[in-house]
Amino acid sequence: MTQPISSRSQQAEAAEDVGSNASANPSLGEVVAHRFDRRGLLGALAVGAISAVVAPRALAAAGTAASTTQASAPAAETFPFRELPAGADERHHVADGHDAEILIRWGDPVLPGAPAFDPRAQTAAAQAMQFGYNNDFLGYFPMPGAADPAAHGLLVVNHEYTNEELMFPGLGRQEGKAAFAGMTRDLVDIEMAAHGGSVIEVRKVDGRWRVVPDSGFARRITATTPMRLSGPAAGTERLRTAADPEGRHPLGMINNCAGGVTPWGTWLSCEENINYYFRGRLPEGSPEARNHKRLGLPGNLYAWGRFHDRFDLGREPNEPNRFGWVVEIDPFDPASVPVKRTAMGRFKHEGAAGALARDGRYVVFQGDDERFDYVYRFVTEAAVDTANRAANRDILDRGTLSAARFDADGRGAWLPLVFGQGPLTPENGFRDQADVLVETRRAADLLGATRMDRPEDVEANPKTGKVYVMLTNNKSRKADAVDAANPRPDNRFGHIVEMSPEGGDFAANAFAWEVLVRCGDPSVAAVGATFSSATTKDGWFGMPDNCAVDGQGRLWVSTDGNSRGKTGRADGIWAMETEGERRGTGKHFFQVPVGAEMCGPYFTPDDTTFFVAVQHPGEADEEDPNAAPATFEQPATRWPDFEPGTPPRPSVVAITRRGGGRVGT
Ligand code: FEO
Ligand code: CA
Ligand code: CA
Repeated sequence: MTQPISSRSQQAEAAEDVGSNASANPSLGEVVAHRFDRRGLLGALAVGAISAVVAPRALAAAGTAASTTQASAPAAETFPFRELPAGADERHHVADGHDAEILIRWGDPVLPGAPAFDPRAQTAAAQAMQFGYNNDFLGYFPMPGAADPAAHGLLVVNHEYTNEELMFPGLGRQEGKAAFAGMTRDLVDIEMAAHGGSVIEVRKVDGRWRVVPDSGFARRITATTPMRLSGPAAGTERLRTAADPEGRHPLGMINNCAGGVTPWGTWLSCEENINYYFRGRLPEGSPEARNHKRLGLPGNLYAWGRFHDRFDLGREPNEPNRFGWVVEIDPFDPASVPVKRTAMGRFKHEGAAGALARDGRYVVFQGDDERFDYVYRFVTEAAVDTANRAANRDILDRGTLSAARFDADGRGAWLPLVFGQGPLTPENGFRDQADVLVETRRAADLLGATRMDRPEDVEANPKTGKVYVMLTNNKSRKADAVDAANPRPDNRFGHIVEMSPEGGDFAANAFAWEVLVRCGDPSVAAVGATFSSATTKDGWFGMPDNCAVDGQGRLWVSTDGNSRGKTGRADGIWAMETEGERRGTGKHFFQVPVGAEMCGPYFTPDDTTFFVAVQHPGEADEEDPNAAPATFEQPATRWPDFEPGTPPRPSVVAITRRGGGRVGT
């Protein structure tokens, strides 16, 4: 039975079919998932000392080499906190011994002079000065020269999308049959101002995190902020529009999901489901038809194209090509122009977390969040200059983008997307590297990359030299299309793949891999979950989405899609053992209020604060047949204010250990 689709995030899933990968890449269809001798394989790949790796999140540590550490069995108590019971209610919860306090909410002031939040009289001008909607990626940059770099810094925040039914009084859902009848230009402009990102200055005062009011660093970036395209595709004919005949000056960023923090202190913000914002029909015979179809354009989930021509394919067929990129932003310069780095490819970017290669080049891992799409990697041509920040200003414009092939024997290879190599030639419709980048997905199709179960965050662990790939779910994978890296048909609960780059070098072209865990309820045999037997009834989870590796090299996983109706538990954060006897053990740490998903997990450099983002609290639970549609008037929760008449507010939460010390100990 088809459930009514009642939340934007679930709309997202439904819409994913539109752009799904129709390529005939080797699915290893006949290959039955099998385990292999991991130790033997690792031996063959000579995974040895991991040297000179700088944690990507540690600006303060840039220029210093992290400790040389070899993968080894950790002490039994990797995560000694007392586990949080799993459940679902209107509030957030954190494991005993920790505090989890609201730092900033949708509508709170960001820019000096921002008006007070009034959800019944919101305007685009007010929203453009206030904290945006649906906070997703978080990144923390220690303030240079701060007495305590873990107590004063800049927090950058992605605002991924908007929920009109929860934001605006008396509206309800607008897409589909509603045909956006209730949407006005004013409401659309509020939505556009609620997208993008925020930069806020944050400081611990008397042990509690506070937003510094009227900070000179404060910034709002929206769907209309002037930006710059750079790299091989900048200025190409396919990026030109009536408003920008040079093809180098796009306006705004949209659907910014996860991201990354570079060692030189910039923020990478990733455009994901950009197809949702477009409507209309391409002119007959448009050369962009194949390209747009592969990305699911038009997605028709917003009314923007009714009021802004550039979001109407019939009027601006090239405008979508100016979205779907990684955007680099200097958070320390509020006047800087955000730069879309085309060399890193165009697709539905989940995130862009990275690590330094042995030789100092920067390696960025990226997931393309669509059923049957790919895991990517970008390696800069030049080494990062850790002594001179400015020298890295355009380092992301030159390098090699590759897609991953996971072979059935537990090995794999990165396949470079380089014009003129292999099938990436004029015979296949690529005239130059710009074409390869604008149509990254089609290029990866031709190279034979492995079709994955919705790749979300991909994060390197500089302590162990391994890389973790969150594969959130894929209900469309049929039994005859499973492969070793995506071993379950109708994969409702997702899994995590662990990659071990050859020689422990993130820039190596070969890797070993294995499935770390198949997610879901291990007590239901048909689910096929593979959490370790040490995992409690609270410790398992479904739908891994984002993740964080803390300063001790411990893996933390955040989820999107657990609910009372689906798994009997809300989304949240689970600690995940990756080494030793307890490998594959999950442990519940944080729980979001109903309707929300968990985003943005990010640690301060010393692990004393864990920032997390609660996205779309109060959305309806579409897996619960008894759940009512959620609206401004009747949300599933009024978190975090719980004031009658006030809608739920996506918010950032700061988690600290009571009495101080590292979170999760
Ligand atoms: Fe925006 Fe893939 O989650
Ligand atoms: Ca996500
Ligand atoms: Ca997700």
